[in-house]
Amino acid sequence: MEAPETEIRREVERRRTFAIISHPDAGKTTLTEKLLLFGGAVREAGAVRAQKAARHATSDWLELEKQRGISVSSSVMHFEHDGYRVNILDTPGHRDFSEDTYRTLVAADSAVMLIDAAKGVEPQTRKLFQVCRMRGIPIFTFVNKMDRYGRDPLDLMAEIEDVLGIESVPMNWPVGAGNTFRGVYDRPGRQLLLFSGGEHGTQRVEQREISGPADAAPVREAMGEAASGVIDALELLEGAGAALDPERVRAGELTPMFFGSALTNFGVLPFLERFLEMAPAPGPRSSSAGPVDPVTRAFSGFVFKIQANMDPDHRDRVAFVRICSGRFERGETVRHVRTGKPVRLAYSTLLMGQEREEVERAYPGDVVGLFDPGIFRIGDSLVADADLEFDGIPSFSPEHFVRVRVAAVERRKALEKGLSQLAQEGAVQLFSEPGAGTAAPILGAVGPLQFEVLCHRMRSEYKVELKLDPLPYKVARWARAGLDPAIFRHSDATRVVEDREGRPVLISENLWNLERAVERNPGLELAETA
Ligand code: G4P
Repeated sequence: MEAPETEIRREVERRRTFAIISHPDAGKTTLTEKLLLFGGAVREAGAVRAQKAARHATSDWLELEKQRGISVSSSVMHFEHDGYRVNILDTPGHRDFSEDTYRTLVAADSAVMLIDAAKGVEPQTRKLFQVCRMRGIPIFTFVNKMDRYGRDPLDLMAEIEDVLGIESVPMNWPVGAGNTFRGVYDRPGRQLLLFSGGEHGTQRVEQREISGPADAAPVREAMGEAASGVIDALELLEGAGAALDPERVRAGELTPMFFGSALTNFGVLPFLERFLEMAPAPGPRSSSAGPVDPVTRAFSGFVFKIQANMDPDHRDRVAFVRICSGRFERGETVRHVRTGKPVRLAYSTLLMGQEREEVERAYPGDVVGLFDPGIFRIGDSLVADADLEFDGIPSFSPEHFVRVRVAAVERRKALEKGLSQLAQEGAVQLFSEPGAGTAAPILGAVGPLQFEVLCHRMRSEYKVELKLDPLPYKVARWARAGLDPAIFRHSDATRVVEDREGRPVLISENLWNLERAVERNPGLELAETA
């Protein structure tokens, strides 16, 4: 029989766990669906889209959650391709955009940044990019919608560098654009890939390959009118472009770039294949006991998301655990490090679309959903033997703030308890004003949906009707140094508050005011996350 370590090593090496970061409408649903079709994980084109449409069609998000039981919408999709096991962590966008979207990136080993060729770098992509940057994970860029007339690819490269501060290295170059988008020239393979036959829902397109340097006669001939533009651009890239340096890619300093059209399925397979070659397998994760090797250490993982069931009859929760090392076996007992208590890995599910599969075994890079009777918090570590805790998941700057209006006096205790527990769980961030105690707390959220969920849970779990008054603030920065609330020089647009741990935080209507605050208060050092 195979030694467990050999089995784990093999499983780790073939795993690729990533998230797609994009702005709404760039084509994430379409691309995800095409990737799943390659892996045979969905049988029908339209399955992922139908799920998205169902979410949009319903005006009452909570109703939908109730019908479904615990939401599987923002979960994990997986498929096999060419010997690889691919895990796509969904990053909820649109109305579902929340702090969970950021936290999911902490569980990913790499990211695919999807850009609409006509729109370039958009705000949500920028925010998600910053989180990937902070973690230093590799970022791959897919420029989508090449079947429409978009921006010049060289302009897009310049924009990515200017706006995001990351250099890009095109792995392929588009041949034609809009309705003359015919293919891509693959730079490392020195091969022209020509596509035909694609349309929405296409599982595979016809792909013709012509080998040779871009200026070789047969390649040039096959490119038709686009030939000279492609050859010029490739020459320019050879001379002045960044070299493909795998070290810089791994460190998230250089992004390999691909062109294609998710809708017509042009360029998706060539992207997937190069991505799988280049993207990292799960590596060591840092912890209180140093880096944790995924293969040689026993089972360990951490909770990056907790999803509560909105159905009052089933008040269970699912804790999403990213496995970091060893082998997960259902039914085994491990240690919940924060409380020191044993936890049985029962009721584990792998979440895939609408279906739930019971998981018997899982490996580093995989995500399992554990039934949570209310013991888990975001960032909690689970370990089989060692005494270690993974580095915590930071709190990210809220973009929406509200003040809680004081509830009926007799419900004050329940209000405080509920807010404190739900904030601990990571549902929203809870702030107070220095000296004001727990009266009229301020809540912060990355997405307004978090407030909706909070109100619902306060009502059903704590029998408290929350009244929330919007505040004009849009950004928070944690003061690492130099903030003494007593002598801080305020402006109207900033306010000093404390987070749950008593750390001073400046909240403001915009970044400009925070920059002014730094100028006016020497010694003040602000951080984007806590
Ligand atoms: P999202 O998840 O990032 O929000 O984007 P989604 O895939 O839902 O795509 C948004 C719209 O862009 C959809 O059009 C989709 O068909 C279109 N789209 C996605 N990829 C491509 C592409 O490569 N080329 C072109 N031309 N369009 C693309 P829609 O009209 O909103 O929906 P539908 O009627 O097409 O379903």
